[in-house]
Amino acid sequence: MMPRTRLAAALILAMAFLFCLRSESWDPCVQVVPNISYQCMELNLYKIPDNIPTSTKILDLSFNHLNHLNSHSFSNFPELQMLDLSRCEIQMIEDDAYQGLNHLSTLILTGNPIQSLALGAFSGLSSLQKLVAVETNLASLEDFPIGHLKTLKELNVAHNLIHSFKFPEYFSNLPNLEHLDLSNNKIQNIYHEDLKVLRQMPLLNLSLDLSLNPLDFIEPGTFKEIKLNELTLRSNFNSTHVMKICIQGLAGLKINRLVLGEFKNERILKSFDTSVLEGLCNLTFEQFRIAYFSKFPRSDTGLFNCLVNVSAISLLSLNVDSLEALPKDYRWQHLELTNCNFKQFPTLKLNSLKKFVFIGNKGMSTFIEFELPNLQFLDLKRNHLSFKGCCSRTNFGTTKLKHLDLSFNDVITMNSNFLGLEQLEHLDFQHSNLKQANDFSVFLSLRNLRYLDISYTNTRVVFHGIFVGLVSLQTLKMAGNSFQNNLLPDIFTELTNLTILDLSKCQLERVSQMAFHSLPKLQVLNMSHNKLLSLDTLPYKPLHSLQILDCSFNRIMESKEQELQHLPRSLALLNLTQNDFACVCEHQSFLQWVKDQRQLLVGAEQMMCTQPLDMQDMPVLSFRNATCQMNKMIISVSVLTILLVSVAGALVYKFYFHLMLLAGCKKYGRGESTYDAFVIYSSQDEDWVRNELVKNLEEGVPPFQLCLHYRDFIPGVAIAANIIQEGFHKSRKVIVVVSQHFIQSRWCIFEYEIAQTWQFLSSRAGIIFIVLQKLEKSLLQQQVELYRLLNRNTYLEWEDSVLGRHIFWRRLRKALLDGKPWKPEGTADADSRQQEATTST
Ligand SMILES: *[C@@H]1O[C@H](CO)[C@@H](O)[C@H](O)[C@H]1NC(C)=O
Ligand SMILES: *[C@@H]1O[C@H](CO)[C@@H](O)[C@H](O)[C@H]1NC(C)=O
Ligand SMILES: *[C@@H]1O[C@H](CO)[C@@H](O)[C@H](O)[C@H]1NC(C)=O
Ligand SMILES: *[C@@H]1O[C@H](CO)[C@@H](O)[C@H](O)[C@H]1NC(C)=O
Ligand SMILES: *[C@@H]1O[C@H](CO)[C@@H](O)[C@H](O)[C@H]1NC(C)=O
Ligand SMILES: *[C@@H]1O[C@H](CO)[C@@H](O)[C@H](O)[C@H]1NC(C)=O
Ligand SMILES: *[C@@H]1O[C@H](CO)[C@@H](O)[C@H](O)[C@H]1NC(C)=O
Ligand SMILES: *[C@@H]1O[C@H](CO)[C@@H](O)[C@H](O)[C@H]1NC(C)=O
Repeated sequence: MMPRTRLAAALILAMAFLFCLRSESWDPCVQVVPNISYQCMELNLYKIPDNIPTSTKILDLSFNHLNHLNSHSFSNFPELQMLDLSRCEIQMIEDDAYQGLNHLSTLILTGNPIQSLALGAFSGLSSLQKLVAVETNLASLEDFPIGHLKTLKELNVAHNLIHSFKFPEYFSNLPNLEHLDLSNNKIQNIYHEDLKVLRQMPLLNLSLDLSLNPLDFIEPGTFKEIKLNELTLRSNFNSTHVMKICIQGLAGLKINRLVLGEFKNERILKSFDTSVLEGLCNLTFEQFRIAYFSKFPRSDTGLFNCLVNVSAISLLSLNVDSLEALPKDYRWQHLELTNCNFKQFPTLKLNSLKKFVFIGNKGMSTFIEFELPNLQFLDLKRNHLSFKGCCSRTNFGTTKLKHLDLSFNDVITMNSNFLGLEQLEHLDFQHSNLKQANDFSVFLSLRNLRYLDISYTNTRVVFHGIFVGLVSLQTLKMAGNSFQNNLLPDIFTELTNLTILDLSKCQLERVSQMAFHSLPKLQVLNMSHNKLLSLDTLPYKPLHSLQILDCSFNRIMESKEQELQHLPRSLALLNLTQNDFACVCEHQSFLQWVKDQRQLLVGAEQMMCTQPLDMQDMPVLSFRNATCQMNKMIISVSVLTILLVSVAGALVYKFYFHLMLLAGCKKYGRGESTYDAFVIYSSQDEDWVRNELVKNLEEGVPPFQLCLHYRDFIPGVAIAANIIQEGFHKSRKVIVVVSQHFIQSRWCIFEYEIAQTWQFLSSRAGIIFIVLQKLEKSLLQQQVELYRLLNRNTYLEWEDSVLGRHIFWRRLRKALLDGKPWKPEGTADADSRQQEATTST
């Protein structure tokens, strides 16, 4: 037992060793951009790899086991600009660890449990702009040895153990600092003393993030005379009281943008009231944003008393549900309401408002007209709104509108062509359900419109004047709609300034030759995801500026070579992937063209054949022309052969009987016939044939030899051959037993037809008709030829009476005897005498 466990242990050890060895030295880094960018993430590296080019600028070493950074650790990579050392278990960084990285601008140290950071750890980083030291056990900014990083713009020390808000002295040495992220630390109190440095050497454009610190107290006057670009305080306060006190503590601050609020999953405040924001009256700020307060008062506009002079307001995910009470004289110019809970569309009356963004508000269904006389920018996307009548000046009470976004809403019924909204430059309806857009020239007055998006609006273009008036349009997106007859008609006549046109997913099967004739400036045309069957390039000919043509995801099998010459010369990119290319020699010239145009075609390697079966899912580029030369030869030879064979076959088939019969005639001519008569009858009449005909003729005197297919046909030989060889060739005469069954049975008719031919060829009166029953004339007339013959020739009628039978047999024998060779034994005479004798009895 013991040795076995030991062996196992040894094996495991060896494997572990091999695994480590393999991990460390064999796993190559991913080459993102050769000589420039390498990704060595999570490769179980224990040291910095040395097989990476010295020219590397971007190096990602995250999630490895570097533990310890010695001095000059990166001296192999003097060109480095960006170094990611996230979660590398680094505990110790020695002096000069990054020495020589004069071009490094970004250093990421996130998630390293640093215990020992030498004073000269960051020395040599003369270009560093961004240092990310999130989650690095940092306890104080004071001890962070970055004072010499004069170029630093962004310092992120979030998620550490910093207690003090004191800006260290060395900040006066960092004149470029614009972002300081101190979020998620342990700062509780902010004192006047902390910002001493900023008072001496103001950082005019500093953005400061203090979110997720458990703020308790801000000493009044701390921010007096301080100027910042932005201050963010989210999820900082555990009660409204603390929040109120702290906001008062901000008095005197001059700031461009203030952000207050909580985070979606970090909501602490249990209540909220108007007084909380009172302190804001002692601040000077331009923009205000507030987010995710769950207890935000629904319609208390008193909250905004201190925001009268603010120019931009943004409310995100709050419970506000009405803003009607806002005084008209508020100076707000931009208002953004996102994911709030309005029950009704807010009919604001703010004279100053220029930009109104109202997105993703649930709970309303109908748009209500409002009066915002200075509004220029209106974004109402994703509100499930329906519009009864769109769009004109009366909807928004403004004539200054330039940007209108009604995308991702409900039904929008068009009943006006933007009267009074002639200033519009940008219009977006995508993914709303547009009604009546196709009934008249809706966009007629929009002579300034540059951008129009009606993608996925359920529009079926029937009316050709739909885009009349859009003379300045540069971008038109109409993906996911449809056209009458799946044909793209000539509807862009006035759009002479158009540069981008998206017609993807429009179920198009054909394109009118004139469709693009008025678009000389078009640069991008997207025809992908349609149903085009061939790359008919003629319509693209007038597109003198076309650079990108996307015809991917169609059903294109080929294109005629002479047509390919019509592609515009300016074309730089053609996407033909995901089509149904037929890799057959018939389209050889097109396939060759594909090979020649590899530069032009996007992903030429990914263009696959779908036909023929044996080429399915093979790259189009793998198609060999040489096989076609061969194939051509083979094909022409085989076609010729097949042609000859089939002609011969057809001839043989047509004249098969004649040929056979011809052969038979000769034989007959030589007097080789062995039967006196070949009997054609329906199997239904077989009883009569056996019991009457055969008995009387074969057993009578003279005996006649009959050919009967049930008896005389050679088994295993095809019926037709039998009939001809045995039946006709070897018989002098043919007896046709005509009955009701005979006429109805196709087989009999077939035999009869052959017999006719034979009669014709031998030009003998060789056919003897026996009519068994009275025939219905109408039935007989269906068999025209038989009917004719019966009328023309005399025939024997079978009569089942003593006298009738007697006459019948006499006449039949006589007919059969006609032309029977004379036998020297005198049998013929004897026969005839015998016959006379029988007949007279
Ligand atoms: C990468 O650098 C090596 C050595 O400097 C050079 O030979 C090679 O051509 C470079 N490769 C690329 C893709 O630039
Ligand atoms: C201030 O910083 C912001 C980014 O935080 C930047 O967009 C803005 O241009 C800067 N302003 C000045 C005057 O440098
Ligand atoms: C708020 O925070 C302070 C200091 O961190 C603490 O003493 C107090 O108990 C907290 N209050 C609540 C309601 O959590
Ligand atoms: C504004 O600040 C002054 C003194 O700095 C103070 O007296 C006043 O109460 C403050 N107002 C508010 C609303 O906090
Ligand atoms: C807004 O500006 C006006 C005039 O500039 C001033 O009288 C008023 O006190 C300001 N209101 C607030 C809350 O800052
Ligand atoms: C088309 O664009 C050109 C410049 O790109 C501009 O000068 C011209 O006015 C535009 N045409 C119309 C009808 O807007
Ligand atoms: C064309 O449209 C399709 C889908 O609508 C899109 O995926 C593709 O990127 C577009 N092509 C170009 C060149 O923009
Ligand atoms: C076709 O290729 C172009 C250029 O690479 C790309 O932008 C476009 O998205 C491609 N089309 C589709 C449908 O993927």
